[in-house]
Amino acid sequence: MKKDLLKLLDLSRADITEILDMADKLKAEQKAGVHHDFPHGKTLAMIFAKSSTRTRVSFETGIFQLGGQGIFLSNADSQLGRGEPIQDTARVLSRYCDCIMIRTFAQKEVEDLAKFASVPVINALTDFAHPCQVLADLQTIREHKGRLAGLKIAYIGDGNNMANSIIAGGLICGMDVSAACPDGYHPDREVLDFAATVTDAKFELTSDPKVAAKGADVIFTDVWASMGQEAEAEKRKIAFRGYCVDDVIMSLTNDKCMVQHCLPAHRGEEITEKVFEAHADEIFDEAENRLHAQKAVMYLLMKQNAK
Ligand code: CP
Ligand code: NVA
Repeated sequence: MKKDLLKLLDLSRADITEILDMADKLKAEQKAGVHHDFPHGKTLAMIFAKSSTRTRVSFETGIFQLGGQGIFLSNADSQLGRGEPIQDTARVLSRYCDCIMIRTFAQKEVEDLAKFASVPVINALTDFAHPCQVLADLQTIREHKGRLAGLKIAYIGDGNNMANSIIAGGLICGMDVSAACPDGYHPDREVLDFAATVTDAKFELTSDPKVAAKGADVIFTDVWASMGQEAEAEKRKIAFRGYCVDDVIMSLTNDKCMVQHCLPAHRGEEITEKVFEAHADEIFDEAENRLHAQKAVMYLLMKQNAK
């Protein structure tokens, strides 16, 4: 594995399998009350330029359960918010901490942070990617279905950070992926170019959610207006009309099709209340697995970077 987790496109299938296996092990150990002595005494800097419930609590709880300590830094309260360059922040935090987690807007900021930090950097969401979420999603699908390769994912909605990461993660793991996104809201070119190179799984981009849903084993959706796009919310509600995961969409899927949503969800927009509640157990398993998947990422990256 590389020093950092910046995007799933950087990982091989073996890397993802190693993380998921470790996540399953740590989940079982947490439920059995097993105590960890690594990374005892290590610290995780947690930089947030955007809001969060799951990511903050799962990272902070996760590092604590591993015997370490999380340090929360909001943009507003740190010198980052007053314009201190990311390359200086990277070098300062590397002198104090053993790992840095960042949630921000531009992927380039995370890449620059990683370039200048001597400790591992974890992307906890940018406009381009949400790798930690999709590792938790893959863990959840594998738990429920017993495998990944050969299953079909349908992603219905905005070609955003979640779409990019699901397409990359699913295809790397040998899953077929069909993405239904309106014109003008397609996934990023870097991800589509990668998808075009994959030979052992199928990728399809369509504007018809019904085409994507056909024969799916897992349906994914996400909000229509992501963090930072609040001003476009009304325009997007019009563009995404017809992209709601509802009973019609679910009737086209395979038997026992799962539904995954990274949350927060907007019931009545990207998913109906009925579909959400019928699949709530799977969706909250997915939320729980953020904790276990991120503990695995922190454990593996800190172990390989340990002095
Ligand atoms: N899914 C997710 O990242 O949730 P938060 O925005 O609450 O962290
Ligand atoms: N696409 C959403 C995901 C939130 C976890 C956003 O970026 O706001």
